[in-house]
Amino acid sequence: MSAPERVTAAVLAPEDDDLERSLRPRRLEDFVGQERVKEQLSIALEAAKGREEALDHVLLAGPPGLGKTTLAYVIREELGAGIRTVAGPALERKGDIAAILTSLEPRDVLFVDEIHRLNRSVEEILYGALEDFRLDIVVGQGPAARTLTLDLPPFTLVGATTRTGLLTTPLRDRFGITYRLDLYTGEELARIVRRSARILGVEADDEAAVEIARRARGTPRVANRILRRVRDVAEVRHDGAVTLAVAREALELLEVDAEGLERTDRALLSAIAHKFGGGPVGLSTLAVALGEEPETIEDVYEPYLLQLGLLQRTARGRVLTELGRGRAGATATDAGALF
Ligand SMILES: Nc1ncnc2c1ncn2[C@@H]1O[C@H](COP(=O)(O)OP(=O)(O)OP(=O)(O)O)[C@@H](O)[C@H]1O
Ligand SMILES: [Mg+2]
Repeated sequence: MSAPERVTAAVLAPEDDDLERSLRPRRLEDFVGQERVKEQLSIALEAAKGREEALDHVLLAGPPGLGKTTLAYVIREELGAGIRTVAGPALERKGDIAAILTSLEPRDVLFVDEIHRLNRSVEEILYGALEDFRLDIVVGQGPAARTLTLDLPPFTLVGATTRTGLLTTPLRDRFGITYRLDLYTGEELARIVRRSARILGVEADDEAAVEIARRARGTPRVANRILRRVRDVAEVRHDGAVTLAVAREALELLEVDAEGLERTDRALLSAIAHKFGGGPVGLSTLAVALGEEPETIEDVYEPYLLQLGLLQRTARGRVLTELGRGRAGATATDAGALF
């Protein structure tokens, strides 16, 4: 189970896969924002296609919902190649990865999601496959055992991770290209909201798109999700049009505040302020206090709190900034309701 699936808050909750897919940009030109990544990637793609070679292996890193899976499929689309998708933890034995590698066609994309959670023996098989496009398999046991080497077609591994820090050095070193995705600006998110509204056939005011974008924690997935909840409110309580007033009404219902903070964000700030004297407090202690998984806090909640300058990560644990203390004071009643 990936971290975002564990999240239970209204806006960060799991969503309809089909809808998510329909909103996914297919071509690089439709992919909004991340301008540097797009520029570098389009050069790498064009060069690889010109040489009729497989694209170098690509590592995509960044918090959930910023477009890693989307980019993997964009790469496949732009290469005009096939794609195989697997979740890192699902590859349990060497045979699993060997079967996939031997089924690839030249220049195919192998997309491994959550690549930081690969089994060690699977990872070791990958080293040779990535570097020399060869697969060493041991056949038989004991003195009769021998190593068989299979040639693999040149392929592109696209790995996605929310945690580059958890990747082993040998694996990380085998990626020729690494892109780190950053949180999106309000302007970029507003473009994404307008694009999604068009695809969903929702009539949305510009002001409403800007408001949704402003509260989407820098994350396209959250922006799309808020848009869908706003659409619900527009259809059920109004005439279907998404105006600024309707957007605000829906966001209030979702308990998303003016800066995009949700209940859990507020509870987190409040817990550090009121239970742990403003910090430093260790991640696991904080997780227990909130009833959340440490990874969820680290991947889903913290990036945005750090960006807003409310929280700091220090060697001794999490500490509220001056700004964060101010916010926590203001939300003490929220926390009261939770504890
Ligand atoms: N640059 C973008 N432009 C437009 N829409 C985007 C962009 N990036 C992401 N999205 C939208 O956000 C949704 C989530 O993106 P995606 O699934 O690629 O995130 P992810 O980084 O793979 O997340 P996770 O770490 O949870 O797997 C997509 O369905 C897509 O609609
Ligand atoms: Mg993904």
